[in-house]
Amino acid sequence: MRSTEVVMTGPGGPEVLATRERVVGEPGRGRVLVRTEAAGIAFAEVQMLRGRYLGQPRFPFVPGYDLVGRVVAVGAGVDGALLGRRVAAMTRFGAWAEVVEVPARRLAPVPEDVDAGDAVALVTNGVTAWQMVHRVARVQAGHTVLVQGASGGVGTLLAQLARSAGARVIGTASAGKHDVLRDLGAEPVDYRNADVASAVRRLAPSGLDAVFDHVGGPGLRSLWPLLRRGGTLVSYGSESTLEDDSHPLLPYLPLAGRVLTWALLPNGRRARLYYVRPTATFRSDLAEVIALFRDGKLDARVAHRLPLDRAAEALGLLVGGGVAGKVVLQARAGADNAS
Ligand SMILES: NC(=O)c1ccc[n+]([C@@H]2O[C@H](COP(=O)([O-])OP(=O)(O)OC[C@H]3O[C@@H](n4cnc5c(N)ncnc54)[C@H](OP(=O)(O)O)[C@@H]3O)[C@@H](O)[C@H]2O)c1
Repeated sequence: MRSTEVVMTGPGGPEVLATRERVVGEPGRGRVLVRTEAAGIAFAEVQMLRGRYLGQPRFPFVPGYDLVGRVVAVGAGVDGALLGRRVAAMTRFGAWAEVVEVPARRLAPVPEDVDAGDAVALVTNGVTAWQMVHRVARVQAGHTVLVQGASGGVGTLLAQLARSAGARVIGTASAGKHDVLRDLGAEPVDYRNADVASAVRRLAPSGLDAVFDHVGGPGLRSLWPLLRRGGTLVSYGSESTLEDDSHPLLPYLPLAGRVLTWALLPNGRRARLYYVRPTATFRSDLAEVIALFRDGKLDARVAHRLPLDRAAEALGLLVGGGVAGKVVLQARAGADNAS
């Protein structure tokens, strides 16, 4: 079977992406081949461009954090009933290809009536947002929460899920995206032109029940005192250290140390580091998220759909910072122009 794939050839800008063709062999034991209908573009690949994603393969490699597609071949030991099934998987690498080999145990079902681009926007980001809201921070009606980067792929889903749980949501974003936040039911704060902690304190003087932060860096310290008793700080990224030139692990050490210290202090508040993993709950939580989408209770917020051969342009959109929502690679029938 022939497959076109997108290769990240080395560090640099989106121009380092190249396409190549290869012949894909039979899937290995316990594995399947999936013909991709859509694959996600994420901040993780922006980090990979700079060699700053922990655990990324050596250049050149095929990126692609998640996909939705159809099983076209099954390896030894895999139930033949999977052939032809529509599935999703979080691959972390390798999804920017027409045909992708995936361990069968990593597959989750995707209903036929859900658009592939919408579905893929919900895979890593949807489960991440769902688990942070419901499993980690346990957001409830009457809570007030802060969502950093509420205009991003994860952030737009976090804001919606927290609102659906009955919370008041304060969100940070650059000023040009504040209408998007209002549309999601969030109260916007401009993180570029305001001291975020002071602005949030003015909006919510009695404190917050949850903080969702993917920024890290020194600013995180100012958010911890905003939590009221019983509140939870969830740290799930280190976007502020993208431009560092140290080893990619280094920014996470002080971050982990700080969060762990807060977690151990007897102060009535909780602090957690979150990292999405393909465990059993991944499948059930993805099913919950897709059900919300099908019921019209969650908007996947796909901002741009581009075909695989325009992956460099698609990644450039995220690098450029003008996107509100998610960029997906989607086969030509469902793709639009990136205007
Ligand atoms: N731990 C996990 O398991 C996990 C899973 C998925 C993603 N993540 C992390 O989640 C984050 C978002 O990923 P994504 O793919 O959704 O990225 P994305 O679509 O690029 O969204 C990032 C958002 O962050 C905002 N932002 C940038 N700098 C900021 C700052 N200093 N303060 C507040 N907001 C800021 C941007 O807003 P503007 O465009 O308005 O500047 C943008 O909307 C990344 O850090 C990623 O590593 C973690």
